[in-house]
Amino acid sequence: MKKVITYGTYDLLHYGHIRLLERAKELGDYLIVGVTSDDFDKRRGKINVSQSLIERIQGVKNTGLADEIIVEEYEGQKIDDIIKYGVDIFTVGSDWNGKFDYLKEYCKVVYLPRTEGVSSTKIRTETDKINMGLFGIKGIVEKVAREIEYVNGMQIKAVFAEDDTHFSFNATKYQDYDKFLDNIDAVYIASHPEKHYFEIKKALEMGKNVLCETPIALTKRELEELFSIAEKNNCILMESNKTAYQTAYTRLLLLLKCGIIGDVVAINSTCTSLENFYENKANGKWNSIYYWGPTAVLPIFQIFGTNYKNKRIITKYLNKESKFDIFTEIDFLYDNGVASMKVASGVKSEGELIISGTKGYVYVPAPWWKMDYFEIRYENPCYNKKYFYELEGEGFRNTLIVFLKTIKSKRSANVIPQNITEGVCQIIEDFNNDIDVFKIE
Ligand code: CTP
Repeated sequence: MKKVITYGTYDLLHYGHIRLLERAKELGDYLIVGVTSDDFDKRRGKINVSQSLIERIQGVKNTGLADEIIVEEYEGQKIDDIIKYGVDIFTVGSDWNGKFDYLKEYCKVVYLPRTEGVSSTKIRTETDKINMGLFGIKGIVEKVAREIEYVNGMQIKAVFAEDDTHFSFNATKYQDYDKFLDNIDAVYIASHPEKHYFEIKKALEMGKNVLCETPIALTKRELEELFSIAEKNNCILMESNKTAYQTAYTRLLLLLKCGIIGDVVAINSTCTSLENFYENKANGKWNSIYYWGPTAVLPIFQIFGTNYKNKRIITKYLNKESKFDIFTEIDFLYDNGVASMKVASGVKSEGELIISGTKGYVYVPAPWWKMDYFEIRYENPCYNKKYFYELEGEGFRNTLIVFLKTIKSKRSANVIPQNITEGVCQIIEDFNNDIDVFKIE
């Protein structure tokens, strides 16, 4: 019996897939189809897949062409499978020409001509297209524009610039905010936090979906108002905080929930920089709490919640005349633990995250907010474990994909639950109103 094997994602199963499977089947007597797992796709940079693994397997099953379906979970698995299943022929579409020649050592390799004019990417792009407008600081807008290229179903339509700033991507430039909004479905905002409220309000009132860099607003009252406008106008208002959308970070939260280090008792989170990336004439200076606060507090609120018993904000201003903090530490006291965050734009420290538990601790090395790796450490180092993940586009890419899916489904993915967005706002509001604030010279 001649055994044939082929692999693919098979997202939104289409005619090209069926033609490939038919011809693969004709090469032998028994066809094994490997369907890629969600994690494996993510690791190889394919993060746009619309259907779940189960749905994709069902799609392949429905063709009636596969004698056996397996899941492809890791790099190098093809060799293992060929040996394990006694495969005679490996086949795949010609878009992979030459890429799998290394398998010739194990079996025959056949590249079948790819069917022209159809692909999962094309179907995803045609069904989902959202016209994005980019607004705000050039450096960050450029980064987001680069990431949008990877998001099927989203395209840059417009960019806002009050002057003759040149952007490296193609989009119509607007100097009038209303006209800019008129031409898009959704806006990404990365301006100074003091401007967010008016910019978001205007966009939501015009029925546009909004993805805004954290902190979304500077008071809880403003935030509540923005969320209620969003609800009334059936729009999405989502907080962008790239750390929250990184795979390593979300997996770490899941492991903690499973009790991997026992009960969490203490969290220490530090984010500092000497250079302030966002600072320029148009956007003014960003103090430490605006620039780093929402990121540093994120794991604290996501693990312990926002119902702390009390907090103490210790801050150091640049000078007596300004309220510009170059360093701020906030200590939170909870019923079941303590947490401390240090942020600085002008003081340098080790940007690590340490989470202490009753059985062990989590160590995330600097810069922890760009997390692609973390360690779970125990008293007995034999049990220590290291976890690695891909960090695609610093987390912007995942943020954009979640935003797109949220717009389509009109259901929040809850990556940053609303109470956390509110908690972030609250500490900034308290900081600005000198509540629980202690100054150091
Ligand atoms: N395939 C094909 N003809 C097409 C599309 C895919 O022959 N028009 C083949 C691929 O070469 C591969 C298999 O079908 O052997 C599964 O491909 P997959 O990557 O799942 O499909 P694509 O449509 O190429 O997906 P994407 O656009 O997400 O890359």
